[in-house]
Amino acid sequence: MKKIYIETYGCQMNVADSEIVLGLLDEGGHMMTDDVREADVILVNTCSIRENAEKRIYGRLGLFKEIKTARPEVVVGLLGCMAERLRDSLTKSKAEGVGQIVDIIVGPDEYRKVPALLEKAWHGERGVAVRLSRVETYDDLVPLRTSGVSAWISIMRGCDKFCSFCVVPFTRGRERSRPLDGIVSEVETLARRGYREVTLLGQNVNSWSDGVRDFADLIDAVAAVDPALRVRFTTSHPQDMSDRLIAAIARRENICKYVHLPVQSGSDRILSLMNRTYDSRHYRGLIRRLREAVPGVSLSTDIIVGFPTETADDHRMTVDLMREVGYDGAFMFKYSPRENTPAFAMGDDVPDDIKTERIGEIIELQNRTSLSRNLALVGRTMEVLVEGSGRKAAGQMQGRTDGNRIVIFDGPAELRGRTLPVRIVRANSATLFGEPAGSVDSTSPREIIHREPTGVSI
Ligand code: 5AD
Ligand code: SF4
Repeated sequence: MKKIYIETYGCQMNVADSEIVLGLLDEGGHMMTDDVREADVILVNTCSIRENAEKRIYGRLGLFKEIKTARPEVVVGLLGCMAERLRDSLTKSKAEGVGQIVDIIVGPDEYRKVPALLEKAWHGERGVAVRLSRVETYDDLVPLRTSGVSAWISIMRGCDKFCSFCVVPFTRGRERSRPLDGIVSEVETLARRGYREVTLLGQNVNSWSDGVRDFADLIDAVAAVDPALRVRFTTSHPQDMSDRLIAAIARRENICKYVHLPVQSGSDRILSLMNRTYDSRHYRGLIRRLREAVPGVSLSTDIIVGFPTETADDHRMTVDLMREVGYDGAFMFKYSPRENTPAFAMGDDVPDDIKTERIGEIIELQNRTSLSRNLALVGRTMEVLVEGSGRKAAGQMQGRTDGNRIVIFDGPAELRGRTLPVRIVRANSATLFGEPAGSVDSTSPREIIHREPTGVSI
């Protein structure tokens, strides 16, 4: 029996994909290991979104090379977006030494071939499978999940948005949706097995469609499976977020009142160069409608600073928008040029020190906003789904609020997978700290959650 080790980089789609690959290998009687040094197979599921992501992976390949030098029989597999993006250079490249380290190269739509490619690799044959598909959704495969509490469910693959900076449409191919029935029956199985939360995943979940039904119908059907099951979703594109979806979030108690809505920039000129297909007015309107329909909704975003031609004025508009919205969280990135994307041809004319300055400014702004939003929750009692042990001290447990805030409190390990009210006693910008304030799984969220006031209206 071969021991498999897998390392996953990048987005949650990759996490879900790794579970699909492990599911396939599990059927073939392989064993999983957490120790790379005892593995017979080392798989690395890669990300190409920014240059830094790829650099980290090249760094890891250095370690795998060491292992392979000591034990040449170890098989190394490169999976995911980097496999797809660099398929030609990886197979030919001796310069970076990658060609010598990697035995199999498998793109995101070819995971069904992993067991057969590994089989061949035992016999010294290198394998490459990097074709993109218009239909593959892995609907029939059972992912190997280990959490027991919270599950990622991929509902669609690929992206047709072609934001000018983004490599995803090239590495993950055209958008395609999984059938509703397959998704709902997977959720039913998870609920029966005791899972307490599912997150519906896609590059742009708002454009999920089976030709008749849209994402609002899908999330409604998923939420109806079990009222005690929390339902989350990510990522939303501001262009495709419908009022029907907003209404579904408002109506269904078990759909979490949390939306990740990447804006990328506050400048209309930059949004247009980014090919985001909305302007800041549309975005502001969307935020207003969301806040009206779902009072206290938590909001997070993605921002890119230093996109080609971004001026100090453009940047100011991003800062102003962030200030106005008052996000609960933000993922902030320096623009990283990706070959073959339309933005690549626009050059990379914002110097790195300016990007550093701009990202520093918005990180600081976001930290201040997150801190004041978190401090406003001190003294409130919030419903927390317990995910596991807190990382820092023994006897600490960690969970999440409906609005996706992390809460740490003292409690026994048996609380894992349970829901309980926690009174918040302390907070910093990233975390709430609390103490249990009532019986487990007993109260309905509406009775005990005091949603924080939004404090901001735009
Ligand atoms: N440079 C910097 N950030 C990027 N993102 C996507 N492509 C790039 C790039 N070339 C960011 C976007 C997206 C998030 C997943 O990653 O903000 O929403
Ligand atoms: Fe990339 Fe835009 Fe698609 Fe998101 S919506 S994956 S940023 S192309």
